[in-house]
Amino acid sequence: MTPTTSPAPTDREAAVAQRYAAAAGAQEPALCCPVQYRREYLEAIPEEILQRDYGCGDPSQYVREGETVLDLGSGGGKICYILSQVVGPAGRVIGVDCNQEMLALARRYREAVAGRIGHANVEFRYGLIQDLALDLEQLAEQARGLALDSPQDWLDLRQLEQRLRRESPMIPDASVDCVVSNCVLKLSLRIHREVFFHA
Ligand SMILES: C[S@@+](CC[C@H](N)C(=O)[O-])C[C@H]1O[C@@H](n2cnc3c(N)ncnc32)[C@H](O)[C@@H]1O
Repeated sequence: MTPTTSPAPTDREAAVAQRYAAAAGAQEPALCCPVQYRREYLEAIPEEILQRDYGCGDPSQYVREGETVLDLGSGGGKICYILSQVVGPAGRVIGVDCNQEMLALARRYREAVAGRIGHANVEFRYGLIQDLALDLEQLAEQARGLALDSPQDWLDLRQLEQRLRRESPMIPDASVDCVVSNCVLKLSLRIHREVFFHA
């Protein structure tokens, strides 16, 4: 079920990536929906993250103390930082996003939030939610030596992807208790299959 290689981005995906890169740097009002979150969880979260809230619901009510939670399309990290408080020090939260600007924003405040809430249990990973085994940061690092100017290099890249998925998966199979996603998923069979079989 794990993809053999990452699918090429469509024009629409490329446009979405561009839009979210810009929305990480400055609030994009057209992407914001009014959502009521529990006030006590917001106090520990920096203003910059709260302003880049592009969610349209609050999945925190489905999460329990002590759980390991995966947030698909974690954006600026707001839901992860809320969930970090819900699961408490015995739990863990992993956000996955394919937008480096959003990841940088989310990661920037890890220590500050941990200091305010008293525990550090959130991580953010760079990957596609339809390919949860492949960590794109590891791939970029290990593919650095490939010039990608020969068919052999392309075959080597595919093999490298497969090896990373197998030996060092971004989200190992059956490793989380609960999967949430705020304003990212459509009813895609592919995503549901990925979550069901691999998270
Ligand atoms: C509407 S925003 C929601 C962000 C966040 N969940 C929130 O509540 O603010 C969508 C996010 O999903 C990410 N995203 C979209 N498609 C993705 C994919 N296929 N894999 C990983 N992340 C994706 C975007 O980069 C963006 O950060």
